[in-house]
Amino acid sequence: MAAYAAPNFFKGARKGPGDPMKALIVFDSKHGTTEEAAQSIAAAVKEAGHAADLLDLRKKGAAAVALSGYDAVALGGPFYAGRWSRRARAFAAARRADLSGLPFGLFAIGSNPDLGDKAARSTLPPSLASAVSASAYFGGRLDFERLGRLERFIVEKVAGTTESSSTLDLGQANGFAAALIGAA
Ligand SMILES: Cc1cc2nc3c(=O)[nH]c(=O)nc-3n(C[C@H](O)[C@H](O)[C@H](O)COP(=O)(O)O)c2cc1C
Repeated sequence: MAAYAAPNFFKGARKGPGDPMKALIVFDSKHGTTEEAAQSIAAAVKEAGHAADLLDLRKKGAAAVALSGYDAVALGGPFYAGRWSRRARAFAAARRADLSGLPFGLFAIGSNPDLGDKAARSTLPPSLASAVSASAYFGGRLDFERLGRLERFIVEKVAGTTESSSTLDLGQANGFAAALIGAA
């Protein structure tokens, strides 16, 4: 008698509960801070015995990547001029159907702690905002050496300083990764 092959109901890399999972860490970044945060999250996922890929939304075609091989997705972006990353917002809107079927994490970068991950979450399609499994605000970094002329001018006007500063706290990456893994 031919052996019965159970249908694979798992869309991602997992064959069953307890198996290693595969996460995709999607990010936008202008000056590299959000990219660093994404790398820290990916490293934390791997340290916990799972697999993680990074997806840089600045790369051509990145927003259309297939999500079917992943068990969880995290999306991160920086705040500029009071708004969360345009590319991150566009990705969430365009891929909301795929993303709402997966454990979904959100992380935000920015120098103004009044905005943080709650403000980023409020820009998501409502169905996705209510399904967030992991959420974090990592602070931000203002490095005047990396800024263009106009950016320096704006920061000087708004913050009243030309001194580089950082509130970046990547220590939260482990907790964020654990919440994402725990939801998968
Ligand atoms: C021109 C400019 C405008 C900014 N506006 C904001 C803002 O509205 N809110 C905020 O929290 N951070 C703001 N920031 C800080 C950035 O979010 C911070 O530098 C962050 O680390 C940038 O992330 P990235 O390196 O991934 O691009 C601004 C920075 C610049 C240069």
